[in-house]
Amino acid sequence: MEIIRTVEDMRAWRRAVSKVALVPTMGNLHEGHLALVAAAHQQADKVVVSIFVNRLQFGQGEDFDAYPRTFEADCEKLRAVSVDALFFPTEAELYPRVKQDFNVEPPHIQNELCGMFRPGHFRGVATVVCKLFNIVQPDAACFGKKDYQQLHIIKAMVEDLNLPVKVVPVDIGRAEDGLALSSRNGYLTAEERAAAPRLYRNLTVMRDSLLAGNNDYAALEAAARADLEQAGLSIMWKSARADTLEIAHAGEKHLIILAAARLGKPRLIDNIEVNR
Ligand code: PAJ
Repeated sequence: MEIIRTVEDMRAWRRAVSKVALVPTMGNLHEGHLALVAAAHQQADKVVVSIFVNRLQFGQGEDFDAYPRTFEADCEKLRAVSVDALFFPTEAELYPRVKQDFNVEPPHIQNELCGMFRPGHFRGVATVVCKLFNIVQPDAACFGKKDYQQLHIIKAMVEDLNLPVKVVPVDIGRAEDGLALSSRNGYLTAEERAAAPRLYRNLTVMRDSLLAGNNDYAALEAAARADLEQAGLSIMWKSARADTLEIAHAGEKHLIILAAARLGKPRLIDNIEVNR
């Protein structure tokens, strides 16, 4: 695996190969990320993973400095899944003028859902992903459904800006007990980690009940909220149309239930699709 630190070297590497799939990450890799690499291998003969903890998408008081940086362990994992190149740029490479004056500004959806708690977050995500696309020029790029709103915004950016990249969504990787894998799960105490799988369990109960014909979404939500609050998870739900993330109306065929829950230090996010 080639480790590439500069934009110039990344471009030179890119010019020498034909079809490339990119997996953008912030490192501290887990099986969820590696599932994206597997999906990338299906898309192209060369796979590039990027690791860059993107300051632009962290708000004031968020965990930019504390974000886990585990470069050596990450490299080992990436070699084991036959990644061809790792793009690991410095901040000076990606933000040469330090202040990023030109940004990719997503539409109003950036201020909804997770964006309500993280002003500017999705602008930072869209901007860095656009830069990575410009530098790596991948034919395809893989993103996890775990960050459903992020995936939605990137798909829309690619369409609106005519970027020549196929966006490939990848299913959520979970621990055996159902908890969606996340680099931030490491912030949970043992007790919180034991309670965390309740989030997904409640999502599956809601989905199964909706699929069985129960349309009383408000009652389902209230029951799940009560169960989660008892375990110390304070929860925010939203059910939305899977395609637009607009508020769903009763009887929507393709729903997505999005959940965010504060549990101790981190905010857990998860979601489940309901196709009726
Ligand atoms: P990061 O949180 O490192 O995630 C990198 C990619 O892995 C994202 O596409 C995310 O959705 C996916 N991912 C994380 N956990 C997953 C899981 N349990 N199952 C499936 N996919 C999972 O998301 C980011 O970094 C950044 O915002 C980034 C896109 C790299 C821009 O900086």
